[in-house]
This record gives sequence, structure tokens and C-alpha cells, in this order.
Amino acid sequence: MVDSFEKIPVEILPTPQAGSSYAAKQIAELIKQKQKENQPCVLGLATGSTPIMMYKELIRLHKEEGLSFKNVITFNLDEYFPIKRDEYQSYWSFMHRNLFDHIDIDPKNIHVPNGELTKEEAKQHCIQYEQMIDDAGGLDLQVLGIGNNGHIGFNEPGASIFSKTRLTNLDNNTRVANSREFQNISKVPRLALTMGISTIMKAKRILLMAWGLKAQIVAKAVEGYVTEHVPASILQQHNNCTFILDEQAASELTRFKWPWLSGEIEWSPIMIKRAVVNLALKLEKPVLSLTTFDYNENGLGDLLVEKGDAYEINLQVFYLLRDSITGWPGGKPNAHLPAHPERSKPYPKRVIIFSPHPDDDIISMGGTFMRLHDQGHEVHVAYQTSGNIAVTDEFVTRFIDFAVGFEGLFNIDNEKSSEILAEAQNFLASKQPQQIDTSEIRAIKGLIRRGEAKATCRYVGLPEGRWHFQNLPFYETGSIEKNPMGEEDVKLTIELLRKIKPHQVYCAGDLADPHGTHKVCLDVVIESLKRIKAAGDDWVNDCWMWLYKGAWQEWDIADIEMAIPMSPDQVMKKRNGIFIHQSQKDTVPFQGSDNREFWQRAEDRNANTANLYAALGLTRYAAMEAFVRWKY
Ligand code: F6R
Repeated sequence: MVDSFEKIPVEILPTPQAGSSYAAKQIAELIKQKQKENQPCVLGLATGSTPIMMYKELIRLHKEEGLSFKNVITFNLDEYFPIKRDEYQSYWSFMHRNLFDHIDIDPKNIHVPNGELTKEEAKQHCIQYEQMIDDAGGLDLQVLGIGNNGHIGFNEPGASIFSKTRLTNLDNNTRVANSREFQNISKVPRLALTMGISTIMKAKRILLMAWGLKAQIVAKAVEGYVTEHVPASILQQHNNCTFILDEQAASELTRFKWPWLSGEIEWSPIMIKRAVVNLALKLEKPVLSLTTFDYNENGLGDLLVEKGDAYEINLQVFYLLRDSITGWPGGKPNAHLPAHPERSKPYPKRVIIFSPHPDDDIISMGGTFMRLHDQGHEVHVAYQTSGNIAVTDEFVTRFIDFAVGFEGLFNIDNEKSSEILAEAQNFLASKQPQQIDTSEIRAIKGLIRRGEAKATCRYVGLPEGRWHFQNLPFYETGSIEKNPMGEEDVKLTIELLRKIKPHQVYCAGDLADPHGTHKVCLDVVIESLKRIKAAGDDWVNDCWMWLYKGAWQEWDIADIEMAIPMSPDQVMKKRNGIFIHQSQKDTVPFQGSDNREFWQRAEDRNANTANLYAALGLTRYAAMEAFVRWKY
């Protein structure tokens, strides 16, 4: 049902997996219905990271449930230009790798815009592409993703509502976002062939999928004005378009962000906190200065009716915010503080910081990490994955060269290391984009990251034996795409948890880092703790789990349950700790669409949290790290 603020119907599923299965089911049903009618089913298809799981599910339906694609005709939305079909990054290759090679579609029914033509030929080709879609009877269903800038297909902001299939420029944002598929940004083509907005709008039905970090642009497209500056907002004018979202991508919609504006709600303490914090930030007033008038004028009259006086509500929220701030992440020893986020006892605590990649510990909770150690707790770090795909080829060559030089310097036989260097150089010289490294190179890349992680632990002051490199197998595919969580991942984690028996564990609570690694890492810990609990281990009942956010975002201020302030000195100390990760400095292979380095993101975000607390009327700190408690 279209909610009053939502101008496009939205289907919300808990996870990207569930959303992908839902979308796949819609498509499968349409294909079957068309089969019954003896009709072809004409599908418009998209590439990118969003639809990959949906294609997997379609393949599963084909292999396990006999779904046939014999009557399916496909037209892809777009293709880079120029590009050779058989290059790894071409959308032609993408579609074959992720779908066509695994189903029974007739190859002559597959259409992807042709990136191999000259510019002159491309014009004619675009006209033909439109014609071919019409000749096939028009698109029965178009699958879309959405760019962070609101693009659909490669119709970038500003594209006309009347645009047709054409050659177009890629927006800089898009080139940065898509550079993950290429070696670096300079290799991303500047042009692309794309169906136009009018081509897309002619489809009989449209399914747009979006997961995770797309929440803001999704809200603009669904609830904002129709504008060519947000091409996806034009879909508001389509009469059969649905957005399929996971919970995170839906989180900026009014019904979640400001539910009190969307109808009746249950005024739980967290809902009150959210409403009041939002009100204060919107009016740029400290919480304690909000008046009855402010509540009434901003749609919160109901809250006053139910809870009474504005000042009472202000105080309640102010105390919640105040009590979330502590300099004692492991609890304050010998103090009785019932409203404190952590227990005082036992002291000291055994703590495990689970770090999905070898630097998430210091980037996301470096200040807290140092405090926990300095305050006498037994801190362990579990590096969950090797992080070996995120080391550049130049960096690995430099390190092998160092090993050869080191052995030479001390008259150690360096024949073997010279051989490894020569082999690596040979391999890297002809390495194709996306080609998986040899197992030796992967191992060395992992070793480089382990060295950096160990150095960080020493920098914080941890003694030997407190760092644990789990090398969880789900990660070790050598490519961006990871395996799902497996039994071995859980087994390794259970073993570690049982060995340490922690009172506190910290995990990355990102449900949407670019490659999904953080989510799997979190699932592995939760599954392990659940199994340990089910097995009846006593200690686990006294183990609290705190979630931090990875490099990509921060918790909503109203949801924060523990905020650890940092002094300017601690900010600098954390920065230097992040600098230890030299393989990740300056440029990293997987930058994402944010050009800032990790230390800059961390500092901006920690300063921002402190500023928000100050804006709400609490003490102004230099920076703050934020946590939410997870009850498993
Ligand atoms: C892909 C396409 C693009 C993507 C969009 C989102 O064929 O036309 O519009 O759908 O850029 O990309 P991902 O899914 O990688 O975030």
C-alpha cells in the first residue's frame, strides 16, 4: 500500500537475500504465466551489485525447481562504451557470468547494447535497440538498481524524461562507484550506452531493487519531488512500479525515520528519544529548550497528549542521552551506577574485539580499544578475515623485494625468495583486471596485513598472544564475491570464544559494507554465541555484545547506547594507529564512492557524533565513538 508520504509502492524485506528472493519470485511467476499463455516474456535486465543475488535465485529456481527460460527474451539496460564483449567488466560478460551461462535461455534472445561499435555506428544501433524492444512486444518487466546519485540505467542526473537509448556520459560519482570493477578510476570508461528514461518508462512493470546504504537516495526517489535531478523520482509517474528494499535501504522513509508523522504509533522510550532528538536537531535547539509550542508545531502534539508536559519529556530524553556517555567502556570499577551502559563487575573484564578486516578495530573503535586496555581489561582482538584482496600489486611486489634484499643483506640464501619475486612479477605483469592472484601472492598480501594489525596491537599496548588471526574460510575466494557463512567459520569462532570466555564482545554491526563481508562476520559471531548458549555454557549468559559501525557510516544518534568520548590527544593517537595500516593508505583498491581516506572518515564521523551530542545540549567533546548493544 502506498503510504501517504510514499509516492511509489514499496515492498520491504528484512535482508537483501529476502528481497532478492522476492524479486526473483515475481519474475519467475511472470515467466510461467507467459508460458501458460504461450507468449514470450520480455525482460529488461540490470547489472551492478544489486541484482546479483536475485540472479543466483533465478538460477536456483531453474536448476532445482525446473523454471525454464526458453520463452524469455532479454534486453539489458546498458553497457560501457567502448568495451569489448569478452572483457571481464563488460555487462555482456557480467550477464553471462551471473545468469545466462547457467540457464536454458536461447542465446539469440539475449540483447545487450553493443559497446564494440564506433561512435557513428552506435547511433544507428541505439535506434535499432529501441526498435527491437518494440518488435518483441515491449518490455513486460524491467529490473532496475539505483545509483547513489539517483540514476537508473546510466541516465544520470539531468537526463531528460523523454530520453531514448543513446550514448551518454558517465557522471563522476558513477565512475568512482564503479571503479571497484576496474583496476582504478582511470580505467573506467567515460561513456556508456543506455536505455533512455522514456524507454524504461514504457515497460509494463518495473521492479527497482535497493539494499543497504542506498537509503537516502531511495527516500528522495520515493518521497521527493519528481525531478530530472533524481532520475529515479520520475518512476513516481509509472503506474506499475515497485521498489523492493531491505530494511536498511528503507530506513530513511518517513514511516521509519519519523513514524509519528505517518500515523499512530506506540510511544516507547526509544521512539520518544528518536522523536525528541530529531525535533531538537531540526530546530537547532538543545533538548532542554524545546517548548510545548515546538512539539505542537512539529507534529508531536500526540506525544504531549500521551506523556504530558514538554519539560518532563525533555528531561527524560536528556537523561537517556546523558547516561549513554561514559569514559568507561568496560564499566566503572567499584562504582554503583545503575544507569551506566556497562556493568561495573566483574573487573577487569575479558574482551574480544571482532574486527572483520585487519583494520576495523582501530578505524572504528580505536579510542575505545585503547581505553579498554589502559583501564586494565584483558583485551583480545580477533581478526576475522585476512583482508588479502585489498592490498595493491605494487605493494606486494615491494614487500617481496624487501624479503629478497633482507636475506641478501645478511647472507641468507635468497634463491627461493628471488624465485618467488620473479614469479610474482611475471604473473602481475600480465594480470587481467579481476583475475584472482596466485595462492602465494594472496598469502603474502595476507601476511602484509597481519603485520600491520600486529603492529597496531603493539601500539595500543597489547602483549603477545592477544591477537588472533582467524582467516575465516568464507572470505578466501580471492575475489570480491565471498562465500556465504559456513560451518568452519562458526566452528573457528566458537573455539575462540570458548577459549577466552569474554565478558564483552565488540562486533562490526554494519549490515551493508560494500562487499558484504562485515555482515557475514557479524552473522558468524551471533550464530556462534547462540550455539554456545544452546549448549549451556554458563559464562555466555554474562557476555554482552556491543556493535560498532565500520568505516562506512555511524549509528543514528538516537539509537546510540554507549558513547565513548575522546580527547584531542586520543584523536591523534587513534589517527597514528590507523596510519600503521600503510597498505590501506592514500589509495586502496576498493575505495567505494567516498574519496576520503579511512582516518579522515573515522575522524569526521567521531567529531560529528560529538557535535551532535553538543547540539543536543550535552557536554562538547572533541570526538566520540558510538555503540549499540545487541541482545542475542
Ligand atoms: C546497471 C545500471 C545501474 C545500476 C546502479 C546501481 O545496469 O544500469 O543503474 O543499477 O548503478 O549499481 P549497484 O547495484 O552496483 O549499486
